[in-house]
Amino acid sequence: MFFHQIGALLSDDMVGKRVCLRGWIYRRSVVGGKAFVRVRDSTGVIQVVVDEAVLGEELVKTLKDIGLEASVEACGTVTKQPRAPTGYEVVADYFRILGYSRDFPIKGGEGVEYLLDNRHLVIRSPKYAAIWKIKHTILDAGREWFKKDGWWEVTPPILTASACEGGATLFPVQYFEKQAYLSQSAQLYLEVMIFSLEKVWSLTPSFRAEQSRTRRHLAEYWHLEAEAAWYDMNDMMRVVESLVSHIVNRVLEERRRELDALGRNVDSLKTAVETPYPRVKYDEAIEILQKKGVDIKWGSDLGADEERLLTQEFDRPFFVTHFPKEVKSFYMKLDPEDPRVVLGFDLLAPEGYGEVVGGSQREDDYDKLLQRIVENGYNVDDYKWYLDLRKYGSVAHSGFGLGIERLLMWIAGLEHIRDAIPFPRFRGRIYP
Ligand code: 4AD
Ligand code: MG
Repeated sequence: MFFHQIGALLSDDMVGKRVCLRGWIYRRSVVGGKAFVRVRDSTGVIQVVVDEAVLGEELVKTLKDIGLEASVEACGTVTKQPRAPTGYEVVADYFRILGYSRDFPIKGGEGVEYLLDNRHLVIRSPKYAAIWKIKHTILDAGREWFKKDGWWEVTPPILTASACEGGATLFPVQYFEKQAYLSQSAQLYLEVMIFSLEKVWSLTPSFRAEQSRTRRHLAEYWHLEAEAAWYDMNDMMRVVESLVSHIVNRVLEERRRELDALGRNVDSLKTAVETPYPRVKYDEAIEILQKKGVDIKWGSDLGADEERLLTQEFDRPFFVTHFPKEVKSFYMKLDPEDPRVVLGFDLLAPEGYGEVVGGSQREDDYDKLLQRIVENGYNVDDYKWYLDLRKYGSVAHSGFGLGIERLLMWIAGLEHIRDAIPFPRFRGRIYP
């Protein structure tokens, strides 16, 4: 038997053809001897009509009480049906239940924790399918951009001996007789690889032991990172805006149906295709916030609330640059014009979303980097190899990291980052 995917049946060209399909029961109702069974697969939903006059009373009776998510196969004729939810239906001459689903635990209206406990069942729904498809396109478009621009994809380690982004969010793991950590960022290893490949990028999981649960922090997330020799901070910001614009453009081209299904307003995404993105210095950002009545002083980091307020000023993604060195990581190069600040940047997504990318030019001077490591209270021995890069043929270089789930959250218009990953990890949640 040849089975069509359901999405391919939702077309005038198919009307009148006899087809077979298979999938899972999404909704069903029985009215006057006919069962209206909405079947979904990875491509769509279609109504299948099972008439007791054709397929028998027994089957229609079974379908009346059948659990949602039972798996089925059916054959019949495609008919145009304006009253059916997706505009077409299949009038069945064959119908078989493959796998029963007794008392499917998701009935609607359950609370967040219950749904997270049943995540393995919840994420079958068309809403999540739409999100995963958009994520697929984001990853694909990212890879495409790097390939076209001549970058090498590399494979840095996940088990590491030292911190990239500070000790507070390190995840310890037992590594034979030693203590190791799950990687927070591939950056330090990407910096190694530019000496042979010049322009490198990687996609890896990153781990952060974030102590509090927020809308935009995960303990495990997918991190797209890039590093390039000879690039200064401005070169790297141009990479970021070109990459993000390309990704948004491809999602608009290929995932319009999914964006619509999620209720995403695409106008603001269209604006985000246009580059360059605005650039604001940290100093200006503080002034904007103060004018809005926020009690913030020069030197403070921008939190989620401050970022949300700043995004009100822009209709597209924008960079905030030149942060005070105290709020950024040890590896960022100090601005030669004003050593109180670093040559670092964040890219903030509009509509309240905030930081999706963090990047910088790197300190390439041995003595200055050593001093920053000491100032931060790190163990110099742990960073000997990293310091070596400044001893043997050091060059100017820059890089960034993009949080895939943060980007997806904004592009898909999600309320919470947990919906941007199938199995979200955060404090208090490791099952399923
Ligand atoms: O700003 P971050 O901490 O920068 C770095 O890790 C650099 N070493 C990257 C680099 O230059 N190669 O993290 C980069 C991005 C953030 O902008 C954010 O999008 C994402 O990673 N991110 C998180 N996403 C989800 N959950 C978390 N807990 C995240 N922490 C950071
Ligand atoms: Mg950051």
